[in-house]
Amino acid sequence: MIKFKIFTIFPDLFPQILAKSITGETLKNQLWSLEVINIRDYADDFRKTVDDAPFGGGAGMIFKPEILFNAIKSNISSQPTKIIYPSPRGRVFNQQISQELASFTEINIVCGRYEGIDQRIIDIFEMDEISIGDYVLSGGEFASYVMIDAILRNVKGVLGSSDSLQQESFGNQDNDDYKYLLEYPHYTRPADFMGHKVPDILLSGHHANIEKWRKNQAEIITQKNRPDLYEKYLKTKS
Ligand code: 6GU
Repeated sequence: MIKFKIFTIFPDLFPQILAKSITGETLKNQLWSLEVINIRDYADDFRKTVDDAPFGGGAGMIFKPEILFNAIKSNISSQPTKIIYPSPRGRVFNQQISQELASFTEINIVCGRYEGIDQRIIDIFEMDEISIGDYVLSGGEFASYVMIDAILRNVKGVLGSSDSLQQESFGNQDNDDYKYLLEYPHYTRPADFMGHKVPDILLSGHHANIEKWRKNQAEIITQKNRPDLYEKYLKTKS
């Protein structure tokens, strides 16, 4: 059981797609839970102001510290807990971090908007600042979706069979054969779609040859799309 708590000023953005498909089924079956905290509920003036201008000047607005502090303090559990602050300046999220996070029983995610949040909140709560890639998003909500989905796939019972995790791109860090390789192409019926044929080898029933073909395809795709990963892959073989 893994418990996510999302702090946001847009609570109705959740759970949406997380309520569908495998994440949705397992949410219903209580393999994980999602609580959404509206940061604005902790604003104390009658206009429910949550932001203010930055000290030192500059563009944009900053989440005020006292409101976030109260929101977080009132909702996190007292046991050791994880508090993530999605931000483009964080360490870069990847499959390994998603596996690491899957071992927590409670994960809090504080979604910033505007220019960000007061630095003292990040420091006081020793937040784990995480980016989902080198581009800028308009808020932490998008990144929360990405991280929660990736984390849940590592939670036991969420995926039907752990096989599908093993052969996937980046899911194969423990499978030496496919380490650093991206996924090979997949096909299903019909064998001939508008003249585009499925590779003969996949219809042959020859499992060893099929495996060889898949490995080769994975190598070709990795070399083309991710030369950086392909380099690492070659090094594991030398
Ligand atoms: Cl986690 N948040 C925002 N606002 N922008 C990002 C990001 C996160 N990761 C990359 N860009």
